[in-house]
Amino acid sequence: MPGVVIIGTQWGDEGKGKVVDLLAERAAMVVRFQGGNNAGHTIVRDDETFKFHLIPSGILHPGKICAIGNGVVVDPAVLTSEIDALRRRGVDVGGLKLSANAHLIMPYHVMLDTAGEAKLGKLEIGTTKRGIGPCYADKSARLGIRVQDLLDAKILRKKIAAALEPKQQLLRPFARDPKLDLHTMTEEYLRYGHRLEPHIADTAKLCWETLDSGRTVLFEGAQATLLDLDHGTYPFVTSSNPVAGAACVGAGVGPTDIDEVWGVCKAYTTRVGAGPFPSELTDEVGVHLRDRGHEFGTTTGRERRCGWLDLVALRYATRLNRLSALAITKLDVLSGLDPLRIAVRYRGTEGAVFEEFPYHQSILHTAAAEYEEMPGWEEDISGARSESELPPQARDYLAAISESAGVPIKLVGVGPGREQVVRMNGVELKAA
Ligand code: GDP
Ligand code: IMO
Ligand code: MG
Repeated sequence: MPGVVIIGTQWGDEGKGKVVDLLAERAAMVVRFQGGNNAGHTIVRDDETFKFHLIPSGILHPGKICAIGNGVVVDPAVLTSEIDALRRRGVDVGGLKLSANAHLIMPYHVMLDTAGEAKLGKLEIGTTKRGIGPCYADKSARLGIRVQDLLDAKILRKKIAAALEPKQQLLRPFARDPKLDLHTMTEEYLRYGHRLEPHIADTAKLCWETLDSGRTVLFEGAQATLLDLDHGTYPFVTSSNPVAGAACVGAGVGPTDIDEVWGVCKAYTTRVGAGPFPSELTDEVGVHLRDRGHEFGTTTGRERRCGWLDLVALRYATRLNRLSALAITKLDVLSGLDPLRIAVRYRGTEGAVFEEFPYHQSILHTAAAEYEEMPGWEEDISGARSESELPPQARDYLAAISESAGVPIKLVGVGPGREQVVRMNGVELKAA
């Protein structure tokens, strides 16, 4: 029963979409298990670029089941427009399934996200303003509207009224917005329900059937370990659990259904939004990484903050997710940087040394990364397809990562295209 979880090990945008697309070749099903359209997963195929916010990155493989699991929060406006855009490009979306238990992002969630950030002022989190936090908050408060509610006008209207009631005060600045009108909102969401009905399914059961017949299910993570609500750099995190353990809850399978956990890690580090980032670079090297790596948010277009690879954070992510494999992406972006630096420990303001990721917020906010230097390489490596085609310095860099994490590297990305990948020596891809 091969269940394979694929998650981000840093602050997101590691290239999870590309890795899922690659591994999906031999899987029968791909399921997203958390997050919403705060995610932006990019896949480049034959010079065609696809950006997915909600639809699983397996959708370009005809005949696969691509499920949006119960743990995802779904903005139906975004989902229907993603479906339409794919259809226009000739992609078959027949395999798309949507959990009846997934929660819906409502217009007031988006308004509350925006208002919440404005209220925080300088202390803002830098959310994507897609309504993610307020939607998960309603889910926990048991005031959420679920996909299944779209199919019953009476229930839908009642639930929206109940959810709106405690928010009247907070929503006062938006009182004149027609989107907030109970009747208009109910009618709009019923229309979405009508459109989405053919996709609504018991997605947990689809996972069980696939796993029980010995076929592979990929559990596609969004966001990443350091944005995890419980284990990330709280409060500068997202409102779901992107760690591997959450795949079980968010898709509806048991821990023993999971056979492999793949961590996707960029060869350097990026972060969008506010919060601590010990290996951040504010000099010309940071600019080089941003420009060469095209580090602009897929969802919001914001500049991504860039820095060196952080092994303290990677070791933390490795243990927390109990990784069985690593996929290193964007190694090509490091060409031309010499020397390379890798963060190996943090130093606190009073000189204390941290070899492990500190759990205390104030330490993390003030800690500075300390580095080891490694020789860089000049060559363009985007054409490399095997380990032996990589310069020795690049192989040493990869070996240092793998050794520090204690996990084998199975894939290395050397460009955005799906063929721009090095499958590491002697590694049989069980999942792919
Ligand atoms: P995700 O959210 O983790 O799926 O990652 P994003 O799609 O937001 O960001 C990763 C970006 O890097 C995308 O534009 C990808 O096309 C691109 N990308 C992925 N792998 C590689 C790689 O190995 N090299 C380069 N140069 N770009 C890559
Ligand atoms: P993918 O799946 C990078 C960040 C936001 C903000 C914080 C909280 O493409 O890797 P939210 O809107 O979730 O309440 O914002 O989380 N964030 C991401 N950063 N990649 C993502 O997704 C992200 N999704 C959310 O920038 O700092
Ligand atoms: Mg992204």
